[in-house]
Amino acid sequence: MIKKGIILSGGLGTRMSPLTKAVNKQLLPIYDKPLIFYPLSVLMLSKIKNILIVVNKGQLHQYKKLLPNGKNLGINISYIEQSKPRGLPDAFILGEKFIGKDNVALILGDNFFYGQNLTSKLLKCVKLKKGAKVLLHKVNDPDKYGVAKIKRNKIIKIVEKPKKFISDYAITGLYFFDNKVINFSKKLRPSRRGEIEITDLLNHYKKNNNLYADFIGRGGAWLDTGSIEDFYKTSSFVSAIENRQGFKIACLEEISLMNQWIGKKEIQNSIKFYGKCEYSNYLKKLIKNFKKKK
Ligand code: TTP
Repeated sequence: MIKKGIILSGGLGTRMSPLTKAVNKQLLPIYDKPLIFYPLSVLMLSKIKNILIVVNKGQLHQYKKLLPNGKNLGINISYIEQSKPRGLPDAFILGEKFIGKDNVALILGDNFFYGQNLTSKLLKCVKLKKGAKVLLHKVNDPDKYGVAKIKRNKIIKIVEKPKKFISDYAITGLYFFDNKVINFSKKLRPSRRGEIEITDLLNHYKKNNNLYADFIGRGGAWLDTGSIEDFYKTSSFVSAIENRQGFKIACLEEISLMNQWIGKKEIQNSIKFYGKCEYSNYLKKLIKNFKKKK
C-alpha cells in the first residue's frame, strides 16, 4: 500500500500573472476553497496520511497559515521548499528523506479530479508494489498535454505535447511510483527548456516494461487549472455540483471523518480555525449528522 504522497505546489504560474505575482497559484480560489484543497483531497481519498507539500522558496509561511500541520485533519503535513521550478521529478529528489524506503504518489497542485468511481480507482492504484502507474483521461486537445499511445491497455509510446496526433489520452497529474523513482529521477538530465521531465521518467519505466495505466472514464472529470480561463471553468463546475447537491467537493474534514481519522472534537477545532464562514457552516452540519448517525 502506498502511504505517502507529495503535492507539487510551487511553480511560477506565469500564465496567470499578475494574479500569481504575490500569491502562489495553489492558494487562489477554485469557487469556495483554495486550489490546493482539491489535490490534497485526492490523496486523502486514497487513504494517504503522510503528505509532503513542495512549495516555492519564500512562500512557506503562506501555506502554513492555511494548512499548519494536518493535525485537525488527522494527517501529517510537512513542507519542503523548492528554490526554482526544476521539473516535476524534482519532487522525488527533494522528497528523498520523506519517501525513505517506501513507494509514493505524486499529484500536481493544480490538478482537479472528480467522479463517481474515483475513490475505488484510487484505492486500486495505491496497491502498486512495483513499477509506475499513471491515470489517463481522454481529451479534445491532446497537443497541450503529455499523451500516451495505448495498445491492449499498455502504454507503448509517450510524447509531450505531440504536434502530430498519436492518441487523445492525456496523462493526468497523478502518478504512483515504486521506490526506484528516487534514483531514476537523480539520473535525469534537463531538457531543452531546462527542466527534468516527467515524460523521461515515465519512459524509463516503460523501457523496463514497468509502466501501467488506468483510465478515468467519461463519467469522471479531470481538469487542469493552468490558465485563468481554466480557473473559471473549474470554479463553475464546482459551484454547479455543490449548489445542486448540497455536498461540498474537497471538504477535507468530511473526508477525514469518513476515513475515521478524526471525530467531532477536531471538526470543532477546524470551525474555530476557519471562523464564521460558509465552509464552517458546512462543518457544523457534518457534526449534526454525525451525531444523528451515532
Ligand atoms: P507547470 O504547469 O509546469 O507550471 P505552473 O503551474 O507554474 O504554470 P506556468 O506554466 O503558467 O508558469 O506546473 C504544474 C504544477 O506543478 C503546478 O502546480 C506547479 C507545480 N510545479 C512545481 O511545484 N515545481 C516544479 O518544478 C514544476 C515544473 C511545477
